[in-house]
Amino acid sequence: MSSQHYYLFSWIWTGIAIVLLPILLNITAPYGRHSRLDWGPMIPNRVAWIVMELPSLIMFITFFLLGPNRINIPLLVFFLLYTIHYTHRAIVFPLRTHTSTKLMPLLIACLAIFFNLINGFLNGFFFGSITEGYSLEYLYDIRFILGGIMFVIGMAINFKSDNILLALRNSGKKGYSIPTGGLFKYVSCPNFFGEILEWAGFAIMTWSPAALAFFAWTLVNLLPRALDHHKWYIANFEDYPPERKALIPFIL
Ligand SMILES: NC(=O)c1ccc[n+]([C@@H]2O[C@H](COP(=O)([O-])OP(=O)(O)OC[C@H]3O[C@@H](n4cnc5c(N)ncnc54)[C@H](OP(=O)(O)O)[C@@H]3O)[C@@H](O)[C@H]2O)c1
Repeated sequence: MSSQHYYLFSWIWTGIAIVLLPILLNITAPYGRHSRLDWGPMIPNRVAWIVMELPSLIMFITFFLLGPNRINIPLLVFFLLYTIHYTHRAIVFPLRTHTSTKLMPLLIACLAIFFNLINGFLNGFFFGSITEGYSLEYLYDIRFILGGIMFVIGMAINFKSDNILLALRNSGKKGYSIPTGGLFKYVSCPNFFGEILEWAGFAIMTWSPAALAFFAWTLVNLLPRALDHHKWYIANFEDYPPERKALIPFIL
């Protein structure tokens, strides 16, 4: 794929995400607590997560390493941040969930595989073949430093919040309870807030159309889901803390 075609494809892919946002704000993605039986065939939840997320990791590593670019320190940092996140998301996180009896519509898994194939390709191909490289001085660039700080803070919030959620069922308890601790004091979905912050940081840090597209898609996936989760908590728990926002502390 030529550089020109690559950039065109990236901008179109980002544009699709922006166009989809108002539509997805009106559709509740039917997995997890919103799972429904009328979305066609279902597959086990844990298997779905692994199969959905692995393509992103495989595509990223393949296209990153197969490209002609020589790997220097900035590129190595980008490689490690992406692969650490996705190794956790595709393998560690699904194995830690207490959802072995739950099902997910096959259609949702297929859509996620499609999204992850494109995202993994766009990012891996950018670093492996498209970028003219990042000089060592780029390590002192404000974009690298600020974006890197955002990524690390976002990842820490995402991990901690997911840990709090997973711990709610550690004792064998089934169903849902009101999560507390960490940023749950302020929002219903700090795990999504952390994930969005993470990929916003990656987009700033890498200053690349691929990471910008991924950030746009993350926002489009997680903003509607956070609003749905928040409404669901309010509808299902009479004692749900009224001061808690959905996604962004004090704002939304
Ligand atoms: N980058 C992206 O586009 C993207 C898209 C989707 C997800 N993600 C990330 O993937 C991770 C998982 O996403 P998700 O949508 O599954 O998150 P979620 O709905 O918050 O659920 C996370 C896990 O915690 C459990 N859980 C949630 N709330 C609970 C409660 N109140 N009581 C007991 N257990 C609870 C869920 O069980 P159930 O499954 O039984 O509800 C699930 O195992 C998140 O870190 C998210 O940021 C990223």
